[in-house]
Amino acid sequence: MFNIAIIGGQWGDEGKGKVVDLLSDRFDVVARFQGGPNAGHTVVVGEMTHALHHIPSGVFRPDAQIVIGNGTVLDLTKLLIELEELDEAGVKLEGRLFISDRAHVILPVMQRLDAVREGQASPSSKIGTTLRGIGPTYEAKAARWGIRMADLSDRGQLQDRLERILSGLPGREIREGGGDPGLAEEQARQAHEQWKRLERFVTDTSLLLNDWIDEGKKILFEGAQGTLLDLDHGSYPFVTSSNTMAGGICTGLGIGPSVISGVLGVYKAYATRVGSGPMPTELDDADGQRLRDRGHEYGTTTGRPRRCGWFDGVAARYTNRINRCRGICLTLLDVLDSFEEIRICRGYRIDGRELTSPTASVAEMERVEPVYESHAGWNSETTNLRRWEDLPAPAIAYLDRIGEIIGTQVNLVGVGPERTQTLVRPGSWLAEKLGT
Ligand code: IMP
Repeated sequence: MFNIAIIGGQWGDEGKGKVVDLLSDRFDVVARFQGGPNAGHTVVVGEMTHALHHIPSGVFRPDAQIVIGNGTVLDLTKLLIELEELDEAGVKLEGRLFISDRAHVILPVMQRLDAVREGQASPSSKIGTTLRGIGPTYEAKAARWGIRMADLSDRGQLQDRLERILSGLPGREIREGGGDPGLAEEQARQAHEQWKRLERFVTDTSLLLNDWIDEGKKILFEGAQGTLLDLDHGSYPFVTSSNTMAGGICTGLGIGPSVISGVLGVYKAYATRVGSGPMPTELDDADGQRLRDRGHEYGTTTGRPRRCGWFDGVAARYTNRINRCRGICLTLLDVLDSFEEIRICRGYRIDGRELTSPTASVAEMERVEPVYESHAGWNSETTNLRRWEDLPAPAIAYLDRIGEIIGTQVNLVGVGPERTQTLVRPGSWLAEKLGT
């Protein structure tokens, strides 16, 4: 059995999409288990750049089956646009896209709640969400008033439930926040029409996946947001509302843990974050701007400039620990090509103590000072390199040190957006698994 998980080790945007796209030809199935249109994966295939939000990045491998699991939340308007765009780009989905009948639906009322809450929050309590209705939809799921894909087939029942929702607390909260919760009839009609267009893709994906596992098919599990945004283990409350870490795979797809053969953690060669919350290595200076410019660090979903900083080894060690990665992929190494000096944070200092792991207290995490170690840059272009052995010695030293700090070896490094700009470390766990 060879089923691996690709999990982001930072605050998202680590370049997971590229790694999934690269590896997906070794797998029969690519399955997504959490998140929704808050995600944005940019995948460059030949001349074309694609921005994906719901659909896993493995979609560009024509033989891969694509699964969107029950742990995801779906905005059907945006999903249909995404499907149309893929169709126009010649990517065929008939017979190979499977959407869980248990996935929850982001209705306009949930999106409005997201906007009302963010609008009313004080500057210090704003999460900086993507305003896609993610939080309220997961909240509705936990509070048991959510609407699942399977609920859309009966328009009458759907309208009854929506009437109760809109006349109940959620509707009241939106009205009090100055918003308009909309009409149940209109939202039921729209969701039902959209269901009709999607019905042929909707199925019991847990059953399907377990049958495929029994047949020996190989599955790639694709994480969306990063582990530091995990609802339980991230920098709460500045997190998203799902379990983004590897632990979310089982509940988000309806499979048992024993079928996951290993986790590949994806990290950027530096740190970025969008939205609010502590980020100990954030740089507000010229180096931060240089990382942003060279790394094109603007959100795929919202266009917001990302906060940038040096690689946070403390946070990375923590996410590696809770995901138990077998290997690490370090993306965007080329962004550091022109830096004379590169820093890695190996500890946090607070009140005269040095911490080797993040604390649960956001207030403390806002106060910690990074303890840096300094590394010489390599001052040369890595984008044209195609073999690990050709990397400059200081770059290899940087990768080795990151592996040492995190506790798992860097197996793969990205030096540009193309599929070919990816170098695998000879003899590593990943190289062995891939047979390269
Ligand atoms: P939400 O997921 O829209 O509720 O946003 C919650 C937090 O997660 C905010 O800080 C967002 O900026 C962040 N977030 C959500 N999705 C992504 C992503 O795909 N990449 C990076 N940050 C994200």
